[in-house]
Formats: sequence, C-alpha cells, structure tokens
Amino acid sequence: MLNLKEIAESVLKKPGVFLDETRLYPEYVPDVLPHREEQFKQLAKLFKHVIVMPGSSSARVILYGPLGTGKTATAISFGKVITRLASERGVKLRYVHVNCASARSALSVLREIKNQLGLSVPDRGLSFSEFTQALLKEMEVEDLYAIVSLDEFDSVLYSFKKEDRYSLIRFYDIFHVEKLRLNFIYISRMRPTEAIKTLDEVSEGYMMRNTIVFSPYKSRELYDILKYRAEGAFYPGVVGDDVFEYVANLVGYDTGGDGNARKALAILYAAGKLAEREMEEGRASRVLVDHVRAVSASEDLGLIHVLDSLNYLSLHQLLLLKAIALGLRETGSDYVNIGYVEEVYRRLCRNLGLEPRKHTQVYYYVTELASRGVVMTRKTMKGRRGRSSYVSFGAAPLDSLLSALEKAIAVRREVGE
Ligand SMILES: Nc1ncnc2c1ncn2[C@@H]1O[C@H](COP(=O)(O)OP(=O)(O)OP(=O)(O)O)[C@@H](O)[C@H]1O
Ligand SMILES: [Mg+2]
Repeated sequence: MLNLKEIAESVLKKPGVFLDETRLYPEYVPDVLPHREEQFKQLAKLFKHVIVMPGSSSARVILYGPLGTGKTATAISFGKVITRLASERGVKLRYVHVNCASARSALSVLREIKNQLGLSVPDRGLSFSEFTQALLKEMEVEDLYAIVSLDEFDSVLYSFKKEDRYSLIRFYDIFHVEKLRLNFIYISRMRPTEAIKTLDEVSEGYMMRNTIVFSPYKSRELYDILKYRAEGAFYPGVVGDDVFEYVANLVGYDTGGDGNARKALAILYAAGKLAEREMEEGRASRVLVDHVRAVSASEDLGLIHVLDSLNYLSLHQLLLLKAIALGLRETGSDYVNIGYVEEVYRRLCRNLGLEPRKHTQVYYYVTELASRGVVMTRKTMKGRRGRSSYVSFGAAPLDSLLSALEKAIAVRREVGE
C-alpha cells in the first residue's frame, strides 16, 4: 500500500494540463495586454496632468467598445501603473473601480468610491451633495487624488434618474473646489452616438470629448493574446500553436467571430478541461484542435458563456436569470413571457427580503443580458396573440445552470452586494 507521502508525490508528479488555471479566469488581470498598447498610451496622455500638475484639472475619458475587448482589463492595469508612477513622484493617487451595474444612484456610486478610498465619511442621512462635499473635504485633508473608473456605465445612462446621471457626468459643474481631485473613466458598450441620445446638450459635449475606442479583436490579435495568457496557465508544450490558431479563427472579428477575448479564453479553458478529463482516462496527452471542436460544437458552450458572465453580474441580474430559468422549467417551453419572469423575480426577491428593482430597470437588465449573449429575446410567439416579449437561454442545460446560479447568488449575498 502507498503511504500518504507517496500518494501526494504521485499526484504532484503526474503530468497535468493546467499549471495554474486561475490565469485563464475572466477576472484575472494579466500584467501585459497585447494589442492594447495604443489605448494605454492614450490613457497615459489624458491622465498625465494628474501626476505632473495634480489638481489642475479633472480628466474625463470614455472607453468604448463591444463585449470582451479589454476595456475593464485595460482600465485596471492602467490604474495599477499610474498609481505606482504617482507614488514614486510623491503624489498620493489611488485607483478606484466601480461596477455601476450593482449601483442604483449617484449616491451609492459615491459611497463605493469612499469605501474603496478607505475614507471615513459618515453618511447617515446625507444627501448626494452633502455626502460628496464631505468626501471631497476628506480628500483635501488627506491630500488624496483618485482616478475613478465607472464600469458598466450604460446602466447609469439607462436606469439612473436624470439628475444622478448628470451628477456623475458633470461632476465639477456642481462641486466648485480649487483642486480637482477626482478624475473619471467611463466604460461603455454603447456607441457614443447612441449614448448621447440619453443626454442633454451640455452633457453631450462633456461625453464626446475624449473617447478611446476598443475594437473587436482580429484573429491574429487573439492568437497573441491566447498564447500569452496560456503561458503559466498550462504546462509547457501541452497546447500547440494550432490550437491557439483554431480558437483565434473561431472568435476573430475578421474571421467571422465577434472578437471577444473573454469568449476565446473560455473556449481555450473548456478545451483544456476536456483534455484534462481525457488525460486522466489515458485517452489524451495534450490539448488538441479536436478538443476545441468538441467544446465549440457541444451544448457546453452556451453554458460556458453564461457561467462566464456570472462573475460580473449583479445580485439582481442573477436573480433575474434564475427567474428566467425557473420560468422556463415551470412552463416547459423554449421561451417564456417576460411579464411572467418578472413575477417570478419579484417572488424571489421577496423570499430573500429584498426590494425588487423597478420595471424599467428589469427591462434594461434583460436588454443588457441579451446584448451580452447570455439570453435571447423575441418579440412575438407563433400561435400567441398580442405584443409581448419572450426570453430564453441559449443551449445551457437548465439544471446545471440553476445550481451554478444558486452558488453565485449565495456568494453575492455574502459580500452584501
Ligand atoms: N489584450 C489582452 N490581453 C490579454 N488578455 C485580454 C486582453 N484583452 C482582454 N483580455 C481578457 O479578456 C477578458 C475580457 O476582457 P475585459 O473584461 O477587459 O473586456 P471588456 O471590454 O471589459 O468586456 P465587457 O464589455 O464585457 O465588460 C478578460 O479576462 C481580460 O483579461
Ligand atoms: Mg468590462
């Protein structure tokens, strides 16, 4: 019989597929972002003054591009670099990243900024304006500067009250102070020409000034990205160039895909997982193009896509997804009426003691989930009268989906989102 040490050694010695699979996770932010050098440079130019003449002006920049084009990753890694540079020059600069999809008002966004800056501003019963003034004062006392990324800003444009939208866009029109300590990066998937339709003329001018565009990735670019991300994620030599090329061609914008790096990474990861299972059964020794084919042809891909999105959806979006899944299961049909989904959603909220989001917000969530490819929507149904909307999932099997959703909801509730 093997002793415990021998068992451990045999596991350690056994050649595997993944060296560190967390490096392929969607939330992992790599040190280098191939093919985003130009966007990085533009950011550096626009934020130069924060280091050279801190407080002289407040930068306001939009990062615009479709799903999975590296907006979030670029903003976060820019934040890391610039705060390091600032501290080398004696400027107290912090980077703050707020996911606006989980916020409901300008005040809740500002609260999040305060928390991430670690400032002590009492906020019991303060209005947005009072709270912000207290926050700015505290920053003055601490001689602190910040770059704030407002990620998922479309959700602000769609679902925040007009007043709150303007407060976040025209911040220093409202708050007159000598030193402008807050700088903003707005991250959006909406074409700027679409985004401004939700605004008045003055705000429009503000939003249009500095836009950095993130185009969908071409196949060649994805190849470099995959190869780079695979380093350290897989054992050396386990994935061949043909595999990277195949995935890159599946997803590349110029080769018929949507140019979404997150999707490309998810496919590579799933192919790796499949190869790992086969390796344990002695049926494979490395990741092959065939594994990618199997993954991309299988129903798993729909599930991969949904599971991938669970990481960045807010609690209410997750509850809505659960409501859709339950609705589909209860009715046993392939599409379910949104009105019905909303009822189920409200019931779920009530059971958890949560206030359900308003109809307009729920509607926005559905549009948003559809634009992410997580759900599919349809206006009419054969054999049913009237004009209402219907929603469904792609290929994801409902039971696996529901159990994954349960877990994600539990996690979100724990962090108290
Ligand atoms: N140039 C790149 N090099 C390496 N990894 C990248 C690159 N661009 C994107 N990624 C990775 O792809 C995934 C998606 O990127 P990211 O989350 O930044 O996209 P996004 O533009 O914010 O998408 P969304 O609009 O869906 O929020 C992340 O895991 C990110 O680390
Ligand atoms: Mg993002």
